[in-house]
Formats: sequence, structure tokens, C-alpha cells
Amino acid sequence: MFKPDKILVPIDFSECSTLAFEQALVLAGQFDSSIRLLHVVRDDMRSKPIFFVDEDKIRELMNQQVDGALEHLGKINDRMNKQGVQVTMNVRTGSPYDEILKEEKSAGVDLIVIASRGRNGLQEFFYGSTTEKVVRRATCSVLVTRKIIDR
Ligand SMILES: Nc1ncnc2c1ncn2[C@@H]1O[C@H](COP(=O)(O)OP(=O)(O)OP(=O)(O)O)[C@@H](O)[C@H]1O
Ligand SMILES: [Mg+2]
Repeated sequence: MFKPDKILVPIDFSECSTLAFEQALVLAGQFDSSIRLLHVVRDDMRSKPIFFVDEDKIRELMNQQVDGALEHLGKINDRMNKQGVQVTMNVRTGSPYDEILKEEKSAGVDLIVIASRGRNGLQEFFYGSTTEKVVRRATCSVLVTRKIIDR
């Protein structure tokens, strides 16, 4: 029988991804699963030629984003997790889809719950680019969540 012990929920702090967490909490309550919330701070600032920002400054900016993201994740969890589901919070730096797939492998995740769209999404695209890559490349099952308004 399919029983997801570990559920990975990538979050970009968009409304859609918060709704994905809400749905994952329902599943976790039913299957007694733990949830890993993951936010990825993009590191592509490095590859953009911004001549006045040096490496130390980039590192400082990224560390600030990591701290801010951890705080944000904690607040979302406190607000939404009323059933006492076990949730661990992680922030990685890099390319979002790549880090999501690394986390899938390293944590031995059974299910990824990810929203169809995120922060930058355009209505005409069926999936955002992160979700599309995760669906194509993950080795575990993936649940793609939607807002009712998408129908
Ligand atoms: N930086 C990130 N960290 C963690 N999860 C992310 C991140 N970016 C996206 N996701 C996950 O992927 C979902 C879909 O976002 P995605 O980036 O695919 O679409 P989008 O932002 O609407 O469009 P775009 O392809 O232009 O970025 C988000 O709701 C979130 O669950
Ligand atoms: Mg995006």
C-alpha cells in the first residue's frame, strides 16, 4: 500500500505554494507522515554581471535571504500546522529544481507536493518551469496542487 512517510514540500512563499503546504498537511495527518519544507534561495546573482557587487557582498546578501526564509517558513508553519504534524524546515542555495531533486534523494522522500505555479507564473503556462522539471525528473511520486481558480 502507498504510505508516504516523508513528504517534501518546496515553497517559494507564493500563495500557490502555501496552499500546497496546506494540502500536504492534510495528507500528513492521514498517513502519519513527516513533512520537509524546503525553500531555495537562488544563487544566479553570481552569474549576472553586476560589476559593483563583489563576492563578499553576494555572500552577505544570500545569508540574509537564508535567514529571512527560515523565519518565514517558521511563521507559515506556526500559522497553519494546527494538527502537530512533524515539520522540518530547510533552506538551500542554488537552482530551485536542482536543489529540490537533491533533497528528494538525500532525504529519501516518498512524495513531493508542489504547486502548479509559483511567484512568477504566467496564466498561459500550464506549469511553472520549476514544477515542470521536478515532475519530469523526480524518481518518487509527485502531487501537483492547484488553486480552485485554475479550473
Ligand atoms: N525557490 C524555490 N524554492 C522552493 N520551491 C520553489 C521555488 N521556486 C518554485 N518553487 C516551487 O515550485 C512551484 C511552482 O513554481 P515555478 O517556479 O515552477 O513557477 P512560476 O514561479 O509560476 O514560474 P517561473 O517558471 O517563471 O518561475 C512553487 O509554487 C513552489 O512550490
Ligand atoms: Mg518560479
